[in-house]
Amino acid sequence: MTDEPLVLGIETSCDETGVGVVRGRTLLADAVASSVDEHARFGGVVPEIASRAHLEAMVPTIERALAEAGVRAADLDGVAVTAGPGLAGALLVGVSAAKAYAYALGKPVYGVNHLASHIAVDQLEHGALPEPTMALLVSGGHSSLLLAPDITADVRPLGSTIDDAAGEAFDKVARVLHLGFPGGPVIDRYAREGDPAAIAFPRGLTGPRDAPYDFSFSGLKTAVARWIEARRAAGEPVPVADVAASFQEAVTDVLTRKAIRACRDEGVDHLMIGGGVAANSRLRALAAERCADAGITLRVPRPKLCTDNGAMVAALGAEMVARGRAASSWDLSADSSLPVTEPHVPATAPEGETADAAAGTGGHDHGHTHGHGHGHGHTHDHVHELSRKNLYDS
Ligand code: KG4
Ligand code: ZN
Repeated sequence: MTDEPLVLGIETSCDETGVGVVRGRTLLADAVASSVDEHARFGGVVPEIASRAHLEAMVPTIERALAEAGVRAADLDGVAVTAGPGLAGALLVGVSAAKAYAYALGKPVYGVNHLASHIAVDQLEHGALPEPTMALLVSGGHSSLLLAPDITADVRPLGSTIDDAAGEAFDKVARVLHLGFPGGPVIDRYAREGDPAAIAFPRGLTGPRDAPYDFSFSGLKTAVARWIEARRAAGEPVPVADVAASFQEAVTDVLTRKAIRACRDEGVDHLMIGGGVAANSRLRALAAERCADAGITLRVPRPKLCTDNGAMVAALGAEMVARGRAASSWDLSADSSLPVTEPHVPATAPEGETADAAAGTGGHDHGHTHGHGHGHGHTHDHVHELSRKNLYDS
């Protein structure tokens, strides 16, 4: 259908410069430039390096995405961008670029939530999300169970990690095993050759009195590190594949068990898994097995759409446009700690001064605003001033 919204999405929350183009729920382009190699020798993402890499990659990646999609910038119905959560300086590059493109093109800009985007992306793979959607969101910075009656407006956390995120645990264990960064993909590879039952690592927060939907991976990470230290101290070789497989089994066992319990308790017959860790082959296999046993339909996007990308931002942006959500204001800022309960950053300016109205499209629902304490009480007229203000704010 050609009347579905054509949206460009920009993602710069971490080390991936992602630009995607979608029409409604159809993926047209997914261009990613990664600075991961520049961080590898530091064993983690260095924010300043990430920001500079985003700046260099931004315009070429946007041009690549538009070319791949075979569309002109002038045909876009809107520009969506990750407003948070993420690294402040990295987010700022994406937000500034999105505002500049949108303003120059006379289109509305939509500041959207990175975490909600990880869920919305599945619409590109498996069609409209059921409502409500039960989502297990597992990335480098977050691990949560979310119930989303409406991915554009209503996302409710049922539980989350009380210490490390699942991806963070993969990265830290890989570091102890000297496997490099990021740890998830390499542990996934080693684990295929190992025995998941070789070592009984602890399953955090699975006792009868523990919070049913919260996660804890810090104890597991410590247990793995101690086990490895003991082997090294005894002068014995470390069976890397068995450690990787046993660690991965502990993480994926807990994630899938709790997610299925949440579906059962809430009476939801679909489970969506999103975020970088959803690319994990064991998590995908175990979830498929356990969902089938429980009569739950599993939805996991292909691995490339699980890790950070621009298409996921475009997917959520297109849903915002389709549902008539208000565009963000021109004073949209990066918000490094944007809560998961806010799928998008609505207009803070009085009606008539939103990016939407300024772009002259005007047809959207301006009534849908819910203040969240991140807003600014004043508006600016010039993009130049806006960027300067963001620099000082963020
Ligand atoms: O969603 P994402 O790309 O970025 C964040 O928003 O954090 O997730 C990155 C995380 C990293 O911790 C990385 O190690 C993990 O996802 N990851 C994986 C796999 N691929 C990426 N973890 C386990 N298995 C994988 N195959
Ligand atoms: Zn992510």
